[in-house]
Amino acid sequence: MGASERDRPIGVFDSGVGGLTVMRALVETLPAEDIVYLGDTARVPYGNRAASTVRRYAVNATGTLMEKDIKALVVACNTATAHALGTLKETWDVPVIGVVEPVAKRVLEVTKTGIVGVLGTRGTVRSDCYPEAIRRLDRHGGAPRIEEIHQVACPLLVPLAEEGWSTGSVAEEVAAEYLSRLPDLDFDTLVLGCTHYPLLRDTLAAVARRRFGREVTLLDSATCTADEVEATLRSRNLLSGAEESEHEFLLTDLSPAFVEMAERFFGTSPRSMTHVDITE
Ligand code: DGL
Repeated sequence: MGASERDRPIGVFDSGVGGLTVMRALVETLPAEDIVYLGDTARVPYGNRAASTVRRYAVNATGTLMEKDIKALVVACNTATAHALGTLKETWDVPVIGVVEPVAKRVLEVTKTGIVGVLGTRGTVRSDCYPEAIRRLDRHGGAPRIEEIHQVACPLLVPLAEEGWSTGSVAEEVAAEYLSRLPDLDFDTLVLGCTHYPLLRDTLAAVARRRFGREVTLLDSATCTADEVEATLRSRNLLSGAEESEHEFLLTDLSPAFVEMAERFFGTSPRSMTHVDITE
């Protein structure tokens, strides 16, 4: 693989700003990589939409990233991964990495009781992508480790994270209500199956501790996916050797609220955010 091939950017796609939690982990894991982020903020949220709509939006929006000559596409959205990963792999001629499989692998490494909870958007839960991925990997990994997997759709956690209400009594009450919908079993692992949920990690950890009377491991898309992207680029000899890197942020709708939210999700203020028009 030539140097110019390795110096092409990584494309990161999300329905909005939630994927910035994945982008943040990517920047930490792969500081030499140029990254172009595209948030489809004009059509967010994807979480309650039909699978066919999410597929159409995802193919359409990622076309903008392909125009940037990306060397790999990271689908930094659980709902888009759930509904559109296969279609995106068929459509684009670059490695396409979703957020579900990396987390599913980690579940099998950490669970001891084999009782796993999955929190996600309605679309992600309805797709069954996490239970399917976890059980598929479990079948191929020697003695089975998984006893039970239970899922809860948590649609109110997205607006809470976006409004910055990640801690406090309202967030705790909503989290407690959702976790009460899981059966009384010995859960030791919870998948945060939505890119917004890492912002509520402290609240969810505290509520889970109370609910299950034990420390529960919370796994999110960010670090697991960044490690998977690293491994994919390494295996294809596509890791950049550059000394400096650039990060570009594209949004299909640019409002002051999104710029403010982006700071919360990315940890620091993205240097510039550019509006891109996408037409279907
Ligand atoms: N980024 C989405 C996900 O991870 C959540 C926001 C949305 O509903 O679009 O599922």
